[in-house]
Amino acid sequence: MTSLRNLLILVVLISGAALAYLSYDSTAQLEQRTMPLTEEVVKGKQVWQDNNCINCHTILGNGAYFAPDLTKIAVKRDQEWLTRFFKDPGEVWPGTVMSKIRLNVEDAENLTAFLTWVKDIDTNGWPPEPPGGKNPGQPQDGREPAGKVIFASKCSMCHRFNGSGGIAGPDLTNIGRERSREWLKSFLRDPQEIKPDSVMGNPGLGSEEIDAITEYLTS
Ligand code: HEC
Ligand code: HEC
Repeated sequence: MTSLRNLLILVVLISGAALAYLSYDSTAQLEQRTMPLTEEVVKGKQVWQDNNCINCHTILGNGAYFAPDLTKIAVKRDQEWLTRFFKDPGEVWPGTVMSKIRLNVEDAENLTAFLTWVKDIDTNGWPPEPPGGKNPGQPQDGREPAGKVIFASKCSMCHRFNGSGGIAGPDLTNIGRERSREWLKSFLRDPQEIKPDSVMGNPGLGSEEIDAITEYLTS
């Protein structure tokens, strides 16, 4: 009987020791994964909140789907680009919807620090790549036509086409009959150059993407 009791005590002690070691090990790994929080990052988060960026954008899954997700934006854009953009979006991205949000130098730099900090968070591959992969302008192997994929991710929130899409802009179902391909391509390169009073922001597409969308809308 005593030997069984001793054995049980031993088992409890060993499990306890193992649990203590594993907890210690996980906490140590967690600490390694957390990036240092600087004063700029903290202030930048405040700028992010004060300007209601999540009314249009998502970050780490929170926010609205009107504008691009910004969790990994600092991978796509360097810090200089971001700071310039926050000071005067229209100068860097002519015609952008964001042209009215102009921040002072300090706020712009802190916001950039915040988004740079966010990009280093290990999100396990989230957000997923845009539909069509990293280069939606490239032809897709046997999947949806490239133009359709781009339209779905960059245009359909504002435009209807063949029965689905948003209503902020005109229905484009018959655009192939109303406008020539050349007109469409020039418009998508720079809406205001073709229609000076156009309220549509420059969609910032590459020429392959423009060709693909024009093909999709007119065929
Ligand atoms: C009214 C909606 C709206 C608000 C508010 C807004 N944005 Fe945007 N933002 C957009 C849209 C739409 C785009 C894509 C460009 C375009 O179509 O004009 C964009 C583009 C961007 C880009 C560039 C994305 C890229 O892919 O290069 C960044 C960075 C950005 N916004 C950050 C912010 C930050 C930070 C705030 C808050 C200070 C903010 N935005 C507030 C709508 C908004
Ligand atoms: C944020 C909303 C928004 C997004 C996103 C958007 N548009 Fe527009 N678009 C508009 C609005 C509003 C108009 C209204 C007319 C104008 O001001 O030119 C317009 C006009 C147009 C026209 C001109 C129609 C005409 O005959 O005058 C075309 C073509 C067009 N958009 C295509 C696109 C394509 C393709 C995309 C995606 C790459 C896109 N738009 C993205 C809002 C948007």
